[in-house]
Amino acid sequence: MRWSRLDRWSKHPDEVLREASSLIGGGGTRDEKLLSICRLLKDCVPYYDWVGFYLVLPQSQNELQLGPYIGAPTEHVKIPFGKGICGQAAQTKELFLVQDVMEETNYLSCGEDVRSEIVVPIIHNGVLVGELDIDSHRSAPFGPVDEKVLARICEAVAGII
Ligand code: SME
Repeated sequence: MRWSRLDRWSKHPDEVLREASSLIGGGGTRDEKLLSICRLLKDCVPYYDWVGFYLVLPQSQNELQLGPYIGAPTEHVKIPFGKGICGQAAQTKELFLVQDVMEETNYLSCGEDVRSEIVVPIIHNGVLVGELDIDSHRSAPFGPVDEKVLARICEAVAGII
């Protein structure tokens, strides 16, 4: 993967992907693995201030449920499809990148410090099973490397959710 120092990651993204893959294939419960991935990403990328998973539980198919995360506690424990950036990404099943949350009217605030957000759907056999959600306190920090690496991590975790 093309990568430059400008991306400001503390490890090469390929190394992050290797570590994520070994966490997924390693020991522990599903939630322990997801939490370790949150920690890995938060530790490697200085502009990731909140990193967490939302899951679609079998009993509530039109709602996202907060899963493992690292960062400030959030009141948004359950998010209906369509609501906020997470809920919109759940409806479209497409990556949703918001470089300035002030510009987004359908947004659920997780704190005054948050400036930008990226949400990547996790799809298993064509079905949405969860999302990876990242908030940043910086404006417009996300680039193609973030999109690519996060999308690959979501492909890799899809099988364990
Ligand atoms: N901001 C999200 C809510 C979840 S928090 O970022 C943890 C949204 O608008 O869906």
